[in-house]
Amino acid sequence: MGNQAVGKAVRMGNVSVVVVGLGAMGSRHSRYLKAVGCGVLTVDPNGSEDVHHVARVPVPASHDAWIVATPTDTHLEVMKAILRLSPTARILLEKPTCPPDEIPALVDTLKEFPKACVVVNDIYAHSPVVTKFAQGLRRISKEDSIERITIEFTKNRHRDVDNGRFVDLEYGEIGYEWFHMLSLLRAVLPSDSYEEYLQTKPSFISREMRVATSAGGLPQVELYASTDGRIGYPELAGYGYYSPSARDQIAVRNIPYGSSLRYRFVNVRFRSGAYQTLIFEPRFGVHPEYKNVHSICTGGPSGRSVSEVPGNQLETALNRQLELLTTSRPGYAEIRLPEHLHMAKLVDMLNGATSSNYPDEIAKDCHASRV
Ligand SMILES: NC(=O)c1ccc[n+]([C@@H]2O[C@H](COP(=O)([O-])OP(=O)(O)OC[C@H]3O[C@@H](n4cnc5c(N)ncnc54)[C@H](O)[C@@H]3O)[C@@H](O)[C@H]2O)c1
Repeated sequence: MGNQAVGKAVRMGNVSVVVVGLGAMGSRHSRYLKAVGCGVLTVDPNGSEDVHHVARVPVPASHDAWIVATPTDTHLEVMKAILRLSPTARILLEKPTCPPDEIPALVDTLKEFPKACVVVNDIYAHSPVVTKFAQGLRRISKEDSIERITIEFTKNRHRDVDNGRFVDLEYGEIGYEWFHMLSLLRAVLPSDSYEEYLQTKPSFISREMRVATSAGGLPQVELYASTDGRIGYPELAGYGYYSPSARDQIAVRNIPYGSSLRYRFVNVRFRSGAYQTLIFEPRFGVHPEYKNVHSICTGGPSGRSVSEVPGNQLETALNRQLELLTTSRPGYAEIRLPEHLHMAKLVDMLNGATSSNYPDEIAKDCHASRV
């Protein structure tokens, strides 16, 4: 990346943020920012927000940062509206940045506004438990190579959908968890292997959704996500949950309608048979702050040990990314274009396209340009 952030500390209480889109995600961001003393102005056409449209935001250039948490297919239009009002705006875009067919237009918009700063909300890239997990893996893999990586993110989203929450029709299943799962894979794999992974055509892909990849120099990798609550790998992390009812749901491979259990883990198996598993939120159902405690299980033929890592990943990521945005040089951008191009190719594969719609020039662009 050509533009590095300037490492200057920022006091969150002094920051003024416009939050655009006050649904599930935007409300969470807004509540947290208000709690830490930020000035927050909210924009949403529904309900009792401060203003109903970006064009109504008073003195747009006076705000330190903007958060775009509207449905994915409106991100680009909202981002352009902000940049027309304030070409040097600093914007945190919810993920995914935009639908697959708008990726070229997003890249063009960044070129059109060279002083804008745009970062995609990449929660797991800033997560303390993920960093600790990855450090442990690096230590083990000096003596024992990684044989297989399995990442699962399963939730039953049907009640959310019935309640009118945004549904991703463009990316489908990929739009919910894939960006996060790629972030986790990026933390686990050495960087050259991760780049190779993104370029490698999966050996198996199904709508479930399951993507398996095996290539010469890479460990076997399988990413599995279900928004229907259908558990893929109960045996890899089910043991780590404390609540008997959560363990039951996992054991029968079915998170029922209305349950807010999220079965999320990264399992790394080594050639020796040893493994390390990062389990998110294992205290679901037994602790009020379960969303802020995660565990790392280290095991092998001789037994298993567990260590817990506390921390609010959402808030940590929001802090770090707002700090990055508000202290970076004009033009700083981190939109994870390689990940978005990879996800776009998966969408194409699922839709049965014989060749990708995303020309190599865009892929080259992401190496050559600031994104
Ligand atoms: N980072 C994460 O972990 C994470 C988690 C969930 C959702 N998301 C992303 O956040 C975005 C929003 O998802 P959600 O679940 O909060 O959706 P939601 O349906 O709960 O909320 C979307 C809100 O945006 C408002 N809106 C629509 N168009 C608007 C516009 N032009 N200007 C202002 N407001 C507008 C709607 O009225 C609604 O209140 C999506 O891109 C989604 O992929 C990210």
